[in-house]
Amino acid sequence: LGPLLLLLLLLLAPPGREADEAPGDWPGARRLREQLRTAEALSRRYWARFSCVVWPQDCEDEDAEAAAPPRDWSLPPWARRSLDILTTWYCHFHDCCKDGRDCRISNNFTGLESDLRVRLHGQHLVSELVLRVVRDYLEMPKADKALALSFHGGSGTGKNFVAQLLAENLYRDGLKSDCVQMFVTVFHFPNPKYVDMYKEWLLSLIRETQQSCNQTLFIFDEAEKLHPGLLELLGPHLERKASEGHRAETQRAIFLFLSNLGGNVITEVVLGLLKDGWSREEITMEHLGPRLQAEIMKSTDSGFGRSHVVKEIDFFIPFLPLEYHHVRLCARDAFLSQDLLYTEEDLDELANMMTYGPEQGHLFSSQGCKSVSQRTAL
Ligand SMILES: *[C@@H]1O[C@H](CO)[C@@H](O)[C@H](O)[C@H]1NC(C)=O
Ligand SMILES: *[C@@H]1O[C@H](CO)[C@@H](O)[C@H](O)[C@H]1NC(C)=O
Repeated sequence: LGPLLLLLLLLLAPPGREADEAPGDWPGARRLREQLRTAEALSRRYWARFSCVVWPQDCEDEDAEAAAPPRDWSLPPWARRSLDILTTWYCHFHDCCKDGRDCRISNNFTGLESDLRVRLHGQHLVSELVLRVVRDYLEMPKADKALALSFHGGSGTGKNFVAQLLAENLYRDGLKSDCVQMFVTVFHFPNPKYVDMYKEWLLSLIRETQQSCNQTLFIFDEAEKLHPGLLELLGPHLERKASEGHRAETQRAIFLFLSNLGGNVITEVVLGLLKDGWSREEITMEHLGPRLQAEIMKSTDSGFGRSHVVKEIDFFIPFLPLEYHHVRLCARDAFLSQDLLYTEEDLDELANMMTYGPEQGHLFSSQGCKSVSQRTAL
């Protein structure tokens, strides 16, 4: 691998001034030799660094310490960048774990907090609640139960986005992690005729994921459309478990159920409070929680409300309907993430493409921020 790394270094080296000179030119050849020598010395250090990150146990202590945040060492930036790429590539196939920790699990609460504050718009209740309950659950010394959260709200209010932020901050590979499984009802379980097959598949997938990973995340999108048979199967996974020894206690599982159930009640309550002169940010869980939960429990048009699953939900989390200025923020983020230039008028134009309801006031975007990012191309 040594020569390979050397080659890699040379390939990735930014072209120096030498490139302008004809081959065989003496000063040019000398410089090339010097460059090769430097590259060789670099590649030795490079290799030491790489193996430290990947096999920390073979690493001397001082090296290991330096390897932890490999930022301040003396390799030039381009070499550091290629090391990062190589390490990421290697760790993609192997688990680069330190001190027995499962490095697929990152649990970056600082990142989660900042993402929920900066990248999610108009959801102060969600930001606060999700961060708190997820962090409390994962930091508990013992867990005798999975954490079950139910996200409610109209389309485009950020339910999927928050699920994605959780996956990205809790797992190195985000939604692609072996520890994370996401199901979309109409996609994974489209036909009620095959519910027995789905059950078997879902059960074995949950089991396998939990066996290979001590901290798992299961996301059910369009939970209101889940077949009663599947809901029934999930119930026992959410229940409090009688102590099953050490393994059960170190196991953590988070189940997220995303649905638009209760969206109308949320809109109704929020609209009422705004009319009474409250500001959006003054709205608390006391205003929304009980109404929302009651609404879900009594909803009969979906199996979800009547299922065993609903009784095991730890928190019902309301996503508020989004207003014009939130849609503008989504539009701004979409432009920024695609490196596109934009003007204030562009943001207004995008925000104006959405329809606003309900009848009284036209305050809320009917589709939230849905497909705003696709519209930046127009
Ligand atoms: C999972 O937890 C068990 C029990 O504590 C532990 O022995 C095992 O090493 C953990 N597995 C991983 C991948 O962290
Ligand atoms: C956590 O996330 C933040 C923001 O994304 C990032 O700057 C930081 O490096 C992450 N920390 C770790 C330990 O990965």
